[in-house]
Amino acid sequence: MTYGFMDIALTPAVRRAQAEMGADRLWSDFKGHREFDRFSAREAAFITERDSFYMASVSETGWPYVQHRGGPAGFLKVLDDRTLAFVDYRGNRQYISTGNLAENDRVCLFLMDYPARTRLKIYARAEKLALDADPVLTAKITDGDYGAKAERIFKLTLEAYDWNCPQHIVPRYTEAEFMAASQHLLDMVSQLKRENAALHERLDGRQKD
Ligand SMILES: Cc1cc2nc3c(=O)[nH]c(=O)nc-3n(C[C@H](O)[C@H](O)[C@H](O)COP(=O)(O)O)c2cc1C
Repeated sequence: MTYGFMDIALTPAVRRAQAEMGADRLWSDFKGHREFDRFSAREAAFITERDSFYMASVSETGWPYVQHRGGPAGFLKVLDDRTLAFVDYRGNRQYISTGNLAENDRVCLFLMDYPARTRLKIYARAEKLALDADPVLTAKITDGDYGAKAERIFKLTLEAYDWNCPQHIVPRYTEAEFMAASQHLLDMVSQLKRENAALHERLDGRQKD
């Protein structure tokens, strides 16, 4: 099999579930090349455009935990074709992801582009770094004017990624995307308002004559 993501995901129990559904041959006989263990320009661009993602970690008692991560677009930095990093900002001070990663460095990231109905899944190993551990890295990945308190850095080493199909993704738009798409309508409304005001002015002038 040359399918990096599936090499990780296909545990014996997953294989049994696939066999029960008659889907095991689909993956055990996979002949394509989806190593997907190096980010190409496509993944790098996709990751750099995101302003949020979800990160799953695993607790030492075996529970999965998913947390939303957000920041300015591009806050998840692509350092090279196998390495990502982001600043962990102060939040509710539960430190669940931080604690989980101390015992188990496995993470799964889920990145969504709702307007394009595209999603990217990433298996990685996470390393927690103090802000002063690597000042050059910290300076490189910190968005200075973001206004949140940085507490640590998470550096992620890619194991494998995979793309998902657009099925069942409802397009959603950020306020900025909505405003950009609506700009021509807003311009038209402004123009019509100006024309309306000018027509009223002319009408008022005629009524006075
Ligand atoms: C003031 C504040 C309150 C927050 N409250 C919550 C909350 O109640 N539940 C939650 O899931 N995230 C909350 N968050 C977001 C998390 O704190 C944030 O995602 C953090 O990075 C989670 O870290 P952890 O996964 O290590 O626990 C809050 C953030 C801030 C700044």
